[in-house]
Amino acid sequence: MVKVAPSLLSADFGNLEEEIHKLEAAGADMLHFDVMDGVFVPNLTFGAPVIKELRPRSRLCFDTHLMVKNPEKMLASIAAAGADIITVHAEAVTHLDKALDEIRSLGCRAGVSLNPATSERVLDYVLDKLDLILVMSVNPGFGGQSFISSQLEKIIRIKEMIAGYDIELEVDGGINCETAPDCVRAGADILVAGTAVFATDDYAANIQALRQY
Ligand code: DX5
Ligand code: ZN
Repeated sequence: MVKVAPSLLSADFGNLEEEIHKLEAAGADMLHFDVMDGVFVPNLTFGAPVIKELRPRSRLCFDTHLMVKNPEKMLASIAAAGADIITVHAEAVTHLDKALDEIRSLGCRAGVSLNPATSERVLDYVLDKLDLILVMSVNPGFGGQSFISSQLEKIIRIKEMIAGYDIELEVDGGINCETAPDCVRAGADILVAGTAVFATDDYAANIQALRQY
């Protein structure tokens, strides 16, 4: 069954501890942390100190999505804060191959994210260093945007590329009950959702709805 990773970007930032407890009780498969630097993307969120404070408060997998220019500089601190997965953007990192090695050497699973306009071909020579590929189905920076349907083709192509590899395929942006089924049919293993999960107080129902087709 597809995994659902709620994005804390849509959570109540004044009450993150309660929010992650509610998400865990609601059946979230992992927690998605959108780290934004105000440079690679226009928005600014949180970094290692906040992740570190939340780490002892949840047993779920911490899936960290670094929308940060030159993410190399913060890999060690994000890993030390307790991330399980660290995903960097192909567009933001200078030496991708080296950064992926470093993420694994820090004891984390290594992910690469691709903006909507970036070709999956940038992954051709690093497939053996990857544990996760994150397809952005919106331009990163904000929640609540509309799904860019051209990314379905990219998901299908990546699914073919990674046959035989132990790599999970995650999709992020504009995921709701209408777009989730298309993503799963195309090959998504994990759906990130902010707006759709936090739309009402019943997080369990909202998460479950993303898994039903
Ligand atoms: C966007 C973030 C997403 C975002 C998704 O830059 O990477 O994780 O929170 O939000 P929704 O589900 O509202 O599109
Ligand atoms: Zn994200």
